[in-house]
Amino acid sequence: MNLTLKIWRQKNASDKGKMVDYKINDVSPDMSFLEMLDVLNTQLIESGDEPVAFDHDCREGICGMCSLYINGEAHGPDRGVTTCQLHMRKFKDGDTIYIEPFRAKAFPVIKDLVVDRSSFDRIQHAGGFVSVNTSGNTQDANAIPINKENADKAFDAATCIGCGACVATCKNSSAMLYVSAKVSQFALLPQGQVEATDRVLNMVKQMDEEGFGNCTNTGACEVECPKGISLENIARMNTEFLKASLKG
Ligand code: SF4
Ligand code: FES
Repeated sequence: MNLTLKIWRQKNASDKGKMVDYKINDVSPDMSFLEMLDVLNTQLIESGDEPVAFDHDCREGICGMCSLYINGEAHGPDRGVTTCQLHMRKFKDGDTIYIEPFRAKAFPVIKDLVVDRSSFDRIQHAGGFVSVNTSGNTQDANAIPINKENADKAFDAATCIGCGACVATCKNSSAMLYVSAKVSQFALLPQGQVEATDRVLNMVKQMDEEGFGNCTNTGACEVECPKGISLENIARMNTEFLKASLKG
């Protein structure tokens, strides 16, 4: 396939940035999207140009680092996949592909397609953990029975990889899907109850301080989430928040 790429280039956080056109030929449909960008970067380096900076790590849908807005969609046109799992067979010979960074006030661009998502880390640090006394004997795994439905829902919430596609796709740049997944994975389990009140209050407070927008229930986040995190988690977090506020 021969393609035209229109890629956001921005030297640093203070640079204005602009879209730049590139031609790339002989792209195999079996390449991943990131492999296609690797080929482009090899071309750029060989011709003495600056390669395009983009985030990646595991390249198998686990780490949440890859974060591209492709033809106006977070992680591109496929469903249930991250950018690293997107294949070039989803495009046609002669296509023009627009590639931009995830855009949100709380995700400032560092360079080209790389954004700073440390706001997510700060939300996680505010309460996305359980404190466990690890001294003495390890508790038997079967000592605390958990019903299957809650275990499954907690596990589903825990599959959130913190990629930020939910924020990038939301017209309000809301982080509610991400934060609600991180709250739900503990709220559904007995181990999460001890710190439940502080957790939801602190994580929501941090979310607001980071400058994410409000949720207006458009549901776009759920559609673009590569891990299928359900809007049900947002409803659960709202309930948890109300309960915690009434206690306070
Ligand atoms: S909720 Fe989905 S889209 Fe949002 S950070 Fe988690 S995995 Fe990514
Ligand atoms: S590079 Fe790890 S999820 Fe894409």
